[in-house]
Amino acid sequence: MDRRDFLVGTGLLAVAPTAASAAQGLDWGAVRRQFRLDPSLTNLGLFYLASNPREVRDAVEDYKRRLDANSHDLMPDQAQAVAVALGQYTGGAPDDIAFVPNTTIGLSIVYGGLKLRADQEILLSDQDHAWHQEAAKLAASRVGAKVRVGTLFESSARVTEDEVASRLRSSITPQTRAVGITWVQSSTGVRMPVRACAAVVAQANNSRAPEDRCLLVVDGVHGLAAVDDDAARLGADVFVAGTHKWLFGPRGTGMVWVNPQVSDQIVPLLPSLSGRSETASLGPGGFHAFEQYFAVRAAVEFHRRLGRPRVAARITELATRFKDGLAEIPGVVLHTPRDPAMSAGIVCFDVTGHTGNEVVALLGEKRIQITTAAYRIPYARVGTSILNTPEEIDKTLKEIRAITR
Ligand SMILES: Cc1ncc(COP(=O)(O)O)c(C=O)c1O
Repeated sequence: MDRRDFLVGTGLLAVAPTAASAAQGLDWGAVRRQFRLDPSLTNLGLFYLASNPREVRDAVEDYKRRLDANSHDLMPDQAQAVAVALGQYTGGAPDDIAFVPNTTIGLSIVYGGLKLRADQEILLSDQDHAWHQEAAKLAASRVGAKVRVGTLFESSARVTEDEVASRLRSSITPQTRAVGITWVQSSTGVRMPVRACAAVVAQANNSRAPEDRCLLVVDGVHGLAAVDDDAARLGADVFVAGTHKWLFGPRGTGMVWVNPQVSDQIVPLLPSLSGRSETASLGPGGFHAFEQYFAVRAAVEFHRRLGRPRVAARITELATRFKDGLAEIPGVVLHTPRDPAMSAGIVCFDVTGHTGNEVVALLGEKRIQITTAAYRIPYARVGTSILNTPEEIDKTLKEIRAITR
């Protein structure tokens, strides 16, 4: 089968879909067949670590063959091509992008390289990933600075943009050198209003000197390739994301984008192999699994052909189906906002009388794979990938209903 067959009609390649038709125009079954998923498993945890579509696997093999033939051929043109592809996909300039092996290392490099004084602090929220918090704490402890962890909403299910903005406004002090937030929280499924947070941070920065300027750092791993927005144009100063989750890139790949106006505020933590630009040199050096890095371009190209609006609309359609279904099951408490503007592809919930881990185990007995966020309150958690089907959602809802009986 031609790998482009999932596009229904070639005209769609040239026509930007409207919001209403966004999830249409693709044969989602054909998209799924590009992946080597276990057919006996309903996998609602596909955001965890990406399965790769055929063209990404082929690209890895091609680069591997070239490196095996001549390992001196480090293909700098391919590194540039990946930066260009990620730049186009995120709305950023290629020179403002560094390659990193994952989100955790990206965040560690950013906080570790941030020019931070002992009298300053990094402000995070209690729902940021444990590794995000740890990266900030390790960096702060090296210079004697503090990490303060705040709470940006009372209830994840009922969070509003105004609530987040006003809590953030009252939490920032003149000592706050960086605010770290998560685009889509893996502990609650909340999609944070990054632009509203950026406006608050910009206001706080009024009349601050560069060395006191507060930077907004976004852990974007569950928004990239799940939300239809330009990651580099959300108003953040730094955007960090693994490309090995929703983007379906090779495992062990990720990116950091830095606003060029603040790139002089973050110095490299490690020697770099890249002399492409100031920001590119944040990418850790030494030799890497280059075949994986270079194949990120194939993942971006795969998503570009699918169309970001269609991908996001399909993820939302499945998440909404799941949330609507949960709302009809007595004894189920939804912790993720119903509003698609405040959520994306992660849905967290509780089944009364069972821990999240028990729900994971009970569904596992039915060959349904879900997860919990072990680092926070371990709610049962479903991710609605474009590789999932409405039938899988309905089957899962049926089994959750059975657990409540
Ligand atoms: C919100 C969030 N940030 C960061 C990470 C760590 O991602 P990575 O494996 O790319 O370091 C995770 C984990 O999966 C996550 O859920």
